[in-house]
Amino acid sequence: MSSAPSSHRILLGVSGGIAAYKSAELVRLLIKAGAEVQVVMTEAAQHFVGAATFQALSGRAVRTHLWDPAAEAAMGHIELARWASQVVIAPASADLLARLAQGHADDLLATLCLASAAPLSLAPAMNRQMWAHPATQANLDLLRQRGARILGPAAGEQACGEVGEGRMLEPSAIATAVLTPSVGGVLQGRRVLISAGPTLEDIDPVRFVGNRSSGKMGFAIAQVAQAMGAEVTLIAGPVALATPSGVQRVDVRSALQMREAVLQHLDGQHVFIAAAAVADYRPREVAAQKIKKCADTLELQLVRNPDIVAEVAARQDRPLVVGFAAETNDVESHACDKLARKKLDMIAANDVSIAGQGFESERNALNVYWHDGMLRIAPARKSEVARQLLTCIAERLAHATGTPS
Ligand SMILES: Cc1cc2nc3c(=O)[nH]c(=O)nc-3n(C[C@H](O)[C@H](O)[C@H](O)COP(=O)(O)O)c2cc1C
Repeated sequence: MSSAPSSHRILLGVSGGIAAYKSAELVRLLIKAGAEVQVVMTEAAQHFVGAATFQALSGRAVRTHLWDPAAEAAMGHIELARWASQVVIAPASADLLARLAQGHADDLLATLCLASAAPLSLAPAMNRQMWAHPATQANLDLLRQRGARILGPAAGEQACGEVGEGRMLEPSAIATAVLTPSVGGVLQGRRVLISAGPTLEDIDPVRFVGNRSSGKMGFAIAQVAQAMGAEVTLIAGPVALATPSGVQRVDVRSALQMREAVLQHLDGQHVFIAAAAVADYRPREVAAQKIKKCADTLELQLVRNPDIVAEVAARQDRPLVVGFAAETNDVESHACDKLARKKLDMIAANDVSIAGQGFESERNALNVYWHDGMLRIAPARKSEVARQLLTCIAERLAHATGTPS
């Protein structure tokens, strides 16, 4: 058990859904970030995952029953409700949402939710039909109106084999949303446009020229910017990543489509973060039919793609423009050259030659440069890197003259 009191005292409710196993990872991430976590499981949750796992990860005995004399003697349920600086429920089952909406106090978790004045965050997880049901949606509306924060759900493949909305947000996204409010709100009222992922440049109907960008950094930035209060539009190249909750997503494939989408959504933006790895070149011609394997060699003529970030930075009514530089050598000089040449406000440089960070990885490290300063962001999960980058951007935005406020 951690001895120093943390500013994050999280009462984590786990209810009865398949996604309960993912909450073990959530506990691990929260503890790692310095939070104190008290897990409370519903009866149904214990059918999916054992309390011992949560106990080992949180360092605290898991609470499961209202009628537990020993636990009540140690810390009564009202005391526990007062202890929490926030209540987070992940996964939140359809059944629990219904009980919370109706104000039930028929088990320990529901009673704690009624007895606590702490902010409540709910990460729903359920089959897509259960999610779409008007009863579930009405319960959510009611809970939202009362101030509950709804995290997700995401869309994608579900445990039941169906595809649709209802997957619990990934633990890292929930942890970021839960931990961000202490620095959050700094982007309140700001509109942030973010590009992410690779672009694919078609050669013929079955082949393309692409790159190794996974889109994870741009998606993490979108998720964290939203949690910090920004209105976020994400222009995404072809990636199989869930849309961060509350973010408007526009899917594109090629550099030309990405340029068009960026320019279309640029009006009124305060910040443009160009995290996408836009292909520098595209095939001069796209063959209408599959190119046959005839000759020993095949020449592919490539032409330059437009430079989207430079084009945005050249506009009179430009937002604060943040570029990205993925370099394999002389990172600082290449990044600073790009900052000046393209007239960017900031550039975030990563060294993609280092194994385990950058492309396709969960982790990253950045050196961020602007005309009279720099910030070194040490290797960390991409959500944490995004948090530090956005905090820096919010500061630059506050200092900038000529940007809309
Ligand atoms: C195998 C299985 C999987 C289930 N998965 C979910 C789920 O993902 N989401 C959900 O809302 N309910 C799910 N349920 C139904 C809940 O477990 C059930 O409604 C239970 O009463 C919820 O109790 P609780 O809200 O107190 O945890 C599932 C049930 C079973 C048997």
